[in-house]
Amino acid sequence: MYIATYTASANIAVVKYWGKRNEELILPYNNSLSFTMDDNLQTITTVMFSEKFSQDELWLNGKKMDLQKGKKSHVLPVDLLRKKADIDLPVRIVSKNCFPTGAGFASSASGVAALVCATSKALNLTLSGKELSMLARQGSGSASRSVYGGFVEWLKGDLEDGTDSFAQQIAPHDHWPELRNVIAVVETEEKKVSSRHGMKTTTLTSALYEKRLQYLEGVIPKMKEAVLQKDFATFAELTMRESNSMHASMLDTWPPIMYLSDGSREVIYMVEDLNAELGKTVAGYTFDAGPNAHIYTTEEYESVIKERLEKIAHVKNIEVCKVGQGPQQISDE
Ligand code: DP6
Repeated sequence: MYIATYTASANIAVVKYWGKRNEELILPYNNSLSFTMDDNLQTITTVMFSEKFSQDELWLNGKKMDLQKGKKSHVLPVDLLRKKADIDLPVRIVSKNCFPTGAGFASSASGVAALVCATSKALNLTLSGKELSMLARQGSGSASRSVYGGFVEWLKGDLEDGTDSFAQQIAPHDHWPELRNVIAVVETEEKKVSSRHGMKTTTLTSALYEKRLQYLEGVIPKMKEAVLQKDFATFAELTMRESNSMHASMLDTWPPIMYLSDGSREVIYMVEDLNAELGKTVAGYTFDAGPNAHIYTTEEYESVIKERLEKIAHVKNIEVCKVGQGPQQISDE
């Protein structure tokens, strides 16, 4: 029996990946930047290979999944690693999301990153961060960033074969200890349009998309500098404008994609009002492919943001994350 268990956490991008130049290899049109979150948004995954198993199995949150359907592409890295290790045994994957109940969170990044780390360990492979990132990328693009903790950049790469498209750490998890991500859950249901389908339609139909890619080229160096200098005001403004740019290209998609809801817009206005009232930027929102808000702020303003969010009727849940470490191995003893 070959066995290993790993935890990995979700990441919340501040320059987002939305669009693939190669769908099969999962190669993006732009570099993206994110913070890996702490263990509040964690997945724990055990991977076992044994001749005793009759076929591959995936158990997600206690439920057996059909590997011929939906999650198939997320487990592709297991096949790639099995070939690499030259071990042809059936696998059993047992994965659990430790996200707070009702977090409205359905990220694949933590799951795929934990899966890749556990599989490579179980098969006794010694892989570099770059190799783990490239494997995770082929399961789900954003997972390429969750194989590291801290502040991470996923390089889009230019090569056709994807060998130059992987993530790397720009700053460790303890670089900016005051940074917080306040999550305002306005919807707990699953999204109607999957990221995979949505981003494909955007690249094919949005006239704004090309402009967004040009805009991001200028944003990326500025964002990196703002984070390295811990310049919160610049970081937050770039984050909000980048999120708005992605959601504008989604709305410009045909048929249009609208992930933001009335609740999301109320959170946007709350952040705008708070920054205006204090005469400085103390909070910056960002939204992924869904209506729930991620408000980046610092420890100092965490409680005032929570108080304001509690007054918004649409807000069902509030969670706070810090920047976290990368995947960790858990003993299987
Ligand atoms: C909006 O990584 O879930 O969260 O590569 O098709 O699996 P696939 O997509 P996925 O997309 C994430 C999109 C995003 C932005 C981001 O995290 O960068």
